[in-house]
Amino acid sequence: MVDVKKIVVVGSGLMGNGIAQVSLMAGYNVTLVDIKDEFLDKAFANIEKGLKKSESKGQLGEGVTADALMAKLKRTLDLASAVKDADYTIEAVVENMKVKKEVFKTMAENSPAHCILATNTSTMSITEIAKDCGRPENVIGMHFFNPVPLMRCIEVIAGEKSSEEAMETGMAVSNSLPCLRGNRYVAKVLIDRPGFIVNRMNAPGQIYLSWVFDQAKEKQIPWNQIDADGGHAMPMGPCELCDYVGLDTMHHVMEYYAETLSPNFKPGKVISELVEAGNLGAKTGKGFYDWSGGRPKIDKSQKAGLFDLQTMMAIMLNEGCRILEEGVASGFKIIDDANMAGMNTPGPFGAGKKNFEAWSKLLDEIADKTGAEYLRPCELMKSGGFVKMRK
Ligand code: 3HC
Repeated sequence: MVDVKKIVVVGSGLMGNGIAQVSLMAGYNVTLVDIKDEFLDKAFANIEKGLKKSESKGQLGEGVTADALMAKLKRTLDLASAVKDADYTIEAVVENMKVKKEVFKTMAENSPAHCILATNTSTMSITEIAKDCGRPENVIGMHFFNPVPLMRCIEVIAGEKSSEEAMETGMAVSNSLPCLRGNRYVAKVLIDRPGFIVNRMNAPGQIYLSWVFDQAKEKQIPWNQIDADGGHAMPMGPCELCDYVGLDTMHHVMEYYAETLSPNFKPGKVISELVEAGNLGAKTGKGFYDWSGGRPKIDKSQKAGLFDLQTMMAIMLNEGCRILEEGVASGFKIIDDANMAGMNTPGPFGAGKKNFEAWSKLLDEIADKTGAEYLRPCELMKSGGFVKMRK
């Protein structure tokens, strides 16, 4: 296993600066790389703000100050020189295969032979990103959840050529990164399939949500009532969560799954229109809600009765069963635990063990209503065979 002292984080957006913050908190020397100084200025200010907040709460540990950690954070626009003495790199640049491949080639050509190269992609094939860099055995996926300092889950993903050493180092580094809300949870993802575990299991819910949004618009139901349908089980209702993640991200991800999993993932009208209008959610100040004054206060006193959490759980269980069928995860407990750690919502297997028959019927109904065949229950779900599988 590689002894990691210096981590280079490439890309200083929301995810990149969260990753840099927790890497500093774990005691690593960190260099943040981007293509413009203004991006780095903003990231440094954010990281400092986060560290100061943690310092004020005594979360940095005995005698550790935000200033001392900031002194261990370096910055540069020159990726090749940044990785010269790196032990580990985490790429968090735009979800564009061409850009990622260039970044990996530069990193592989300029870093020491032992350096492990991780990508925080949420949608792209690790195998493909690694393919032409020259050292695919050193490349792994390391998928974080937003906001990185607060969400416990990290998925460590094996590409087709990832070495055991790269995976072990990735698991060890991930386990070493603190989380401000509970213990870090690291899920080993055995094969490189679209969406890995957590995003994959939540992906087909987007087919359903997209249909709910279009129905709500047609029936002139306000968004806050859809969020009220989510109830207390969801820390953010469906509309707020889409705004929070970014509607462009959701649109992009749905297009990706439309290509890799099923054409049923094509984004619906409401999502497409919001994206076309540039209303991308929290990041632009407007999406379903107005975020210009910070997180919106959502009135959840009246429900629409359109979005149904049981249906959502049934859809998740079905996809969880497909994940097991394909051998992406070693058992259903990992899938449930990773979901709780990555989304702060319960996974579907706990309740699914008792409900798979009723939920299979729900799925057939929703497939009929939406016309999305992908939502029909798979064999493992219908038979309940997952109950007998290894946890
Ligand atoms: N450093 C230090 N402290 C920080 C911080 C940081 N970087 N960021 C926030 N904090 C502090 C806040 O200041 C706050 O402190 P306070 O209590 O003293 O005021 C504290 O942490 C809690 O912050 P919030 O008030 O924002 O916390 P909430 O209780 O509102 O919870 C949440 C926020 C955890 C984000 C919760 O709303 C949630 O679980 N939402 C769901 C998020 C989710 O599903 N994420 C996954 C998205 S999918 C994804 O990421 C996959 C990818 O592929 C796209």
